[in-house]
Amino acid sequence: MPSSPLPRTPLSAPPHVRTSRAVVPRGHSRDIAAVLIPQLRIQRRVAELAAAISADYRDQELLVVALLNGTVAFLADLMRQMEFPLTMDLMGVSSYRSGTTSGDLAYTKRLKVDVRGRQVLVVDDILDTGKTLTAVTRELKALGAAGLRTCVLLDKPTSRSGGFEADYVGFVVPHLFVVGYGLDYAEKYRNLPFVGVLKKEVYAPETPE
Ligand code: IMP
Ligand code: MG
Repeated sequence: MPSSPLPRTPLSAPPHVRTSRAVVPRGHSRDIAAVLIPQLRIQRRVAELAAAISADYRDQELLVVALLNGTVAFLADLMRQMEFPLTMDLMGVSSYRSGTTSGDLAYTKRLKVDVRGRQVLVVDDILDTGKTLTAVTRELKALGAAGLRTCVLLDKPTSRSGGFEADYVGFVVPHLFVVGYGLDYAEKYRNLPFVGVLKKEVYAPETPE
């Protein structure tokens, strides 16, 4: 389990999101069944996460390690609200997924920055089975990180087997495949400004008899 001896600023418990009444914008309504977390709600929660992280790390020469590709939107919003000097690097990790389930990990981009002796915050889009963050935090510890914490926009606790928990969590989501705000299905839908639920027929098309 990642740990850091630094004090933790209290952060309100992540809201459990179920559904939202927001209308799916017309341009996305072909593939998206519903909006789960509207844009404004995401922005408010990202501000809370950034405030807590800033309070904890403003004097720590923080190194933010974000995982590609799912963090692009979240990272851009989060780090611009961290009002202190920090270092950022990107790590490419791909969990070779078949359809919508987790598979084996492969590193597609290694870090450029030396993590030895650093306080590291790993940022990912969603914590699902926990395989990705378990492997990445183990790797960063082996590379010599002095302190490690994790921050995820979404937590899907129903899929977890190994007991991994993130330190900073945006929202708890139900056992559904979600897309948008950086999260993809087959590399699509990352550009949605909200988190939405994909129509089942998109990822499980009915096969003709
Ligand atoms: P884990 O290793 O099972 O925790 O999975 C983490 C990775 O799987 C995330 O970084 C995502 O890229 C991907 N993932 C898991 N659930 C979803 C989802 O509902 N939508 C899109 N990507 C997902
Ligand atoms: Mg990912």
